[in-house]
Amino acid sequence: MNTPDPLLSLRDLRVEVARRSVLKSVSFDVAPGALLVLMGANGSGKSTLGLALAGHPHYRITGGQARFAGQDLLALSPEQRARAGLFLSFQSPPDIPGVKNNLFIRTAVNAVREARGEAPLDAFDFLGDARGAAAQLGLPEAMLARPVNEGFSGGERKRNELLQLALLRPRLAVLDEIDSGLDVDGLRAVLQQVQALRAQGTAFIVVSHYLQMIEQLAPDAVLRLDQGCIAEQGGVELARQIARNGFLRSAKPVEA
Ligand SMILES: Nc1ncnc2c1ncn2[C@@H]1O[C@H](COP(=O)(O)OP(=O)(O)OP(=O)(O)O)[C@@H](O)[C@H]1O
Ligand SMILES: [Mg+2]
Repeated sequence: MNTPDPLLSLRDLRVEVARRSVLKSVSFDVAPGALLVLMGANGSGKSTLGLALAGHPHYRITGGQARFAGQDLLALSPEQRARAGLFLSFQSPPDIPGVKNNLFIRTAVNAVREARGEAPLDAFDFLGDARGAAAQLGLPEAMLARPVNEGFSGGERKRNELLQLALLRPRLAVLDEIDSGLDVDGLRAVLQQVQALRAQGTAFIVVSHYLQMIEQLAPDAVLRLDQGCIAEQGGVELARQIARNGFLRSAKPVEA
C-alpha cells in the first residue's frame, strides 16, 4: 500500500529563542488529515515549535528542514505560510487594538481564498458565515464588531481562535492549548470543530496537557517533547502514562 506524502515533514529542526537553543533536533511527519498530540513539560518548547512553524521572527530556525505541502516552509514568509494553509492558534491570543475583528478575519479569509483560487467573500456573505460560526461556538455576535481580542475574556479569546479556524479551513492547524481556560461548552466546541474539519481533510497538531481532551480527540499519535527533541512517540497510552507518572518519571533516554 502506498502511504501518502506527508503534509508536514520536519527533519532535525533546530530553533533558537532569545539566543538560547530551545529545539535541538525535532523530526516528525504529519500525514494529510492526521491528528498528532504534542505533549511536554512547561517550557519544553511546544509553543516555540508552533511559533517557529508559523514564522514568528523571534523564533530563529538555526538548522534542519521543514517541508509543507511540497514546499520548503522555511523559505516562505509568515503570510505565504498562512496562504499555503498553515494555521496557528495562539496559547495566549494577543489583542490588536484598533482592528475590527470581522474585518481582520475577512481579510485573512479572502487572502487564503485567493491562494486557493476561490472568489473573495463580500462583507455581506462573510458576515453570514461568521455569524453562523460564532453562534455554533457560543461567541456573542457583538464580538465580531469589536477590536480583535480587546477586552475579551480568556475563554472568549480561545473561542475567537476557533472562529478563525472554522472560517479559514486550513490544511494544517496547530492548536496550542486551545483547551486551557475553556468552559465545558467551549471544550465541546473544540471537539466538534476538530471533527468537522478533519472530515474535510484538515490535519492537526494539538498541544494539550489534559488527558480527557486528548482521549476524546482520538489522536493518530502522541509525541513527547523533552530536551529539545521528540523523546517518545506512541498512541494515546503515552498520554495516559504521562498523566499517571508525570513528565519527570516518564522521561526515558532518547533512543538513537
Ligand atoms: N520570546 C521569548 N523570549 C525568551 N524566552 C522565550 C521566549 N519564548 C520562549 N522562551 C523560552 O523558551 C522555552 C520554551 O518555551 P515554550 O513557550 O515554547 O514552552 P512550552 O512547552 O510551550 O511551555 P508551556 O507548557 O508552559 O506552554 C522556555 O524556557 C521559555 O522561557
Ligand atoms: Mg506553550
